[in-house]
Amino acid sequence: MDLSTKIEETRKRFAQELSAASTQEERDRVKNRYLSGPKCVLRGLFGELGRLSPAQKADGGRALNALKGELEEACRALAQQDRREKEHKLPPDPSLPGRLPPLGRRHPVTQTMDDVIEVFARLGFDVVHGPEIENERNNFQALNIPLDHPSRDAFDTFYLEPPWLLRSHTSPVQVRTMLRRKPPIRVIAPGKVFRPDKADASHLPMFHQVEGLAVGEGVTFAQLKGVLLLFAESMFGVGTQVRFRPSFFPFTEPSAEVDISCFICGAKGCSACKGSGWMEILGAGMVHPHVFEAVGLDPGRFTGFAFGMGIERICMLRHGVADIRYFLENHLRFLEQF
Ligand code: PHE
Repeated sequence: MDLSTKIEETRKRFAQELSAASTQEERDRVKNRYLSGPKCVLRGLFGELGRLSPAQKADGGRALNALKGELEEACRALAQQDRREKEHKLPPDPSLPGRLPPLGRRHPVTQTMDDVIEVFARLGFDVVHGPEIENERNNFQALNIPLDHPSRDAFDTFYLEPPWLLRSHTSPVQVRTMLRRKPPIRVIAPGKVFRPDKADASHLPMFHQVEGLAVGEGVTFAQLKGVLLLFAESMFGVGTQVRFRPSFFPFTEPSAEVDISCFICGAKGCSACKGSGWMEILGAGMVHPHVFEAVGLDPGRFTGFAFGMGIERICMLRHGVADIRYFLENHLRFLEQF
């Protein structure tokens, strides 16, 4: 029998014996018989190389080395399989730490929105919603913003098929609420608003507002101040002060821009408040008599206050976010900080 036939036979016999061995010990015995020690089968075959011509010797050596590698690999694979089976048979260990699935979280803007809503909910305000697609009447006319009035420019608008548009503020929800409910009314209306602004560090064509409205007999500006002071302290910390600056909105009279004392520097002046000690956070005022007339409420009997704030802006102030566009870029390294 020549060497290559012997190699072929050895390969077959080894495979048969190995698969017949059912325990690790039996397999070890097979392995030793073929692969270990001076008397093993493989050594015997290597010994036969000496009787061959130099050319045959080289071929035979290569074939024998290949066989050796194969046999060793077959033993290794079986041993590994055996180990795995044993591991599977171990009883489960309930003391091992659990595997945590990656958990999501609320977007920072949603968190700020929820915090604002919670403060007003505690003060007895109901949450109401209006549609993002509004009509001109609710977005403008009923809010005392005439069709051709320049104040309309301040609420630059995405127009759809007349009379529809994307609401440019949440104030139309004031109108909808007063048409549906009788005073006393205390509501807040959170939601998206749209303006055709080019995106930059402080503008996006879509952002969020929370609107507030209180209507009843004898609702006063002093109550507006009280409610907004409570809001400022709950949101930004006890001791936060509010400052009302005269302003103009068509749907409130008088109107004010409301600032809070800077909670970063304690109103001393820093980069967050641009050195002034104050941060502008919302617009507010007493409901204009024309608005009451537009919704069929008697301005001689009822008074009310309203306010509106931009949520992205408040979120940026409280977390020191430098650019409003970060909120939409969906980078986890940004979002995971909140
Ligand atoms: N709607 C105004 C805006 O978008 C904010 C506002 C609401 C002002 C209610 C006064 C009263 O800027």
